Amino acid sequence: MSIATATATASTHAAAERRSAELEREIAENPGRFRVLSGDRPTGPLHLGHYFGTLRNRLRLQDLGAEVFVLIADYQVLTDRDTAERLDEYTEGLLLDHLALGLDPDRTTVFNHSAVPALNQLVLPFLSLVSVAELSRNPTVKDEIAHSRQAAVSGLMYTYPVHQAADILFCKAALVPVGQDQLPHLELTRTVARRFNERYGKVFPEPDALLSTAPLLLGTDGAKMSKSRANAIPLAATADETARLIRGATTDAERHITYDPQARPGVSSLVLLAALCLDRDPHDVAAEIGDGGAAALKRTVTDAVNGHLAPARARRAEYAADPAYVRAVLRAGNERAAQVAERTLEEVRAAMGTFR
Ligand code: TRP
Repeated sequence: MSIATATATASTHAAAERRSAELEREIAENPGRFRVLSGDRPTGPLHLGHYFGTLRNRLRLQDLGAEVFVLIADYQVLTDRDTAERLDEYTEGLLLDHLALGLDPDRTTVFNHSAVPALNQLVLPFLSLVSVAELSRNPTVKDEIAHSRQAAVSGLMYTYPVHQAADILFCKAALVPVGQDQLPHLELTRTVARRFNERYGKVFPEPDALLSTAPLLLGTDGAKMSKSRANAIPLAATADETARLIRGATTDAERHITYDPQARPGVSSLVLLAALCLDRDPHDVAAEIGDGGAAALKRTVTDAVNGHLAPARARRAEYAADPAYVRAVLRAGNERAAQVAERTLEEVRAAMGTFR
């Protein structure tokens, strides 16, 4: 990333954080006013980074009374890989994770975008509203291209942020709980909405990102926790697997445990993980472990994670035993999303004056 891009990204991020804090106050006053959309690519099991980054935020908003849409972004899987392997398995996994954590299908619409034709049709007019130069400047896309395992960069890689704009705008979501890597896509979504409205008349609101207040969790190797880096602790892992993964986490040679994310990223991320699970201050957690060293730290983290997730993991197993129910949840969500998308597409056709 160039210095100019890094500086721009940092100021976008600071602005998004301020805006998120302001939105939190508005949500507290009137949660029913907000339609929320957020989603994940079904590329593997969801992990603790997703959980503290966005999942918890979505479900909190559901419980506060906002109208929530949860997207399983299956077409977006093909941005950085050639084949859609195990798509059905990962889609079911995402559904199970959400149900286990408290997604209520009577209140929240869960859907996969390949099942909602009218959503995808919005991509065509939206593509006409952005330039190739804008698409190739997107820092998240650039980063993904740099880490892609593909020999060639596909057209979908450059254009998926426009598809993501359709994911958000089809239901006119006002709030999008995301991690900070998604801010460029939110910016693009706002641009698409604004330009569409200017050109054809007002149809779309400009959505806001809602950033989680939890700091970024690192993976067990000290890099950002990621499905593709094999450094993640899956939500659905067993207690034993969780213990094994945490035992293998990178720490450092200093015995005394402190919370200092700058100087001691590995140790501090473990402390943070325990603190998030225990709903405590990370400095207090570190002070309590003190001279116990990495072994005591890892025991604390393992117990905290396993304790925090035990009820959800038990519920997940119950839902997993009833695949017909899980499929029915998705079918109902897809029907509802399709109705909403059809309505929006009708407005788009009317605004554009297409022949009918
Ligand atoms: N790009 C997001 C991710 O990789 C997933 C996603 C697709 C999404 N469409 C979305 C997130 C719409 C928020 C809103 O995590």
